[in-house]
Amino acid sequence: MKPRKQHVLLLWLLVCSGVTGAIEPISTTIAVGMAATLTAFLASYPNIFNYFHECCRPEWISLNRTGLQVDLENKLFGQHIASRIILKAVNGFMSNSNPKKPLVLSLHGWTGTGKNFVSQLIAENIYREGMDSSFVHVFTSTLHFPHKSQIDTYKSQLQQWIKGNITNCERSMFIFDEMDKMHPGLIDSIKPYLDYYERLDGVSYRKAIFIFLSNTGGDSIIQTALDFWQAGRNREEIELKDLETSLSLSVFNNKQGGFFQTSLIDKNLVDFFVPFLPLEYQHVVQCAMAEMKARGLQPRREIADMVAKDLVYFPKSERVFSVKGCKTIESKLDYYT
Ligand SMILES: *[C@@H]1O[C@H](CO)[C@@H](O)[C@H](O)[C@H]1NC(C)=O
Ligand SMILES: *[C@@H]1O[C@H](CO)[C@@H](O)[C@H](O)[C@H]1NC(C)=O
Repeated sequence: MKPRKQHVLLLWLLVCSGVTGAIEPISTTIAVGMAATLTAFLASYPNIFNYFHECCRPEWISLNRTGLQVDLENKLFGQHIASRIILKAVNGFMSNSNPKKPLVLSLHGWTGTGKNFVSQLIAENIYREGMDSSFVHVFTSTLHFPHKSQIDTYKSQLQQWIKGNITNCERSMFIFDEMDKMHPGLIDSIKPYLDYYERLDGVSYRKAIFIFLSNTGGDSIIQTALDFWQAGRNREEIELKDLETSLSLSVFNNKQGGFFQTSLIDKNLVDFFVPFLPLEYQHVVQCAMAEMKARGLQPRREIADMVAKDLVYFPKSERVFSVKGCKTIESKLDYYT
């Protein structure tokens, strides 16, 4: 059955804008009753979402645990540590109705290892609209904050954006790409939002998610992975503790990078450091197979092999890890299919 346009509009007003709560003379009982009716109504029309504009309600924002788990298992390759941490961190945070601070994840690793991709998987399994959600915000240092001389403008702008967006919806998500290229002052300016404050100027930031992406620490992760490989040990044996010390040291000592001088780490504002391992030939093959499937093609191993063989591997002598991870396989696939 197709809901009538006027009804949908009215419902949207009631559901989205929280009018039910705002109309003064309405008694709580009626408001609660209306809310319940609406919830039931929404539940009985699974397709109703196509008629509504997205809004900050559980119908649009809630974690699909199974979805995230299945996606991490089937779509992310060669990242057993990252998968595990992400699943646990996001599950724990989203099932806590009263978190004491926002969730802050810092993803580290070389290019093409899946940091952006994982952020996307998280967004897709929390927001019905995924990366297109108006509650998911991506900032890329070189794109949004390119000029050092304008740092003060950027600071106030970024603070206003975060505050404004979280005022709109406390379950907002912010992804900061190229964190290593971000000015330390700019990182400092968002620090208060990551902290344990109950409220800042009347706004609570505790239900937001911040994800930082950087190459920082990538070298030390690669070194550890290479050590394991050279010792003939299985990659899956690498544990977080094998990476943690060198990772936090290199993050901290990265003098060009934005983390330097900031007390994100000092103050324990980052909840989880998530390492992304360099990818091997077999993972590139998996990426290529998955991409063919995603394009509705029959996945073919010989094509995946051709794609994987086209990439450059390092170190020069052993050629173990793909220089660009899975990054360029899409264009290679265009060529071979
Ligand atoms: C959650 O994810 C699973 C696996 O991808 C999917 O089958 C299911 O429909 C999703 N549930 C919702 C409510 O979107
Ligand atoms: C939310 O963030 C975006 C940038 O992603 C910005 O353009 C917009 O103005 C912000 N909204 C508010 C209400 O501050």
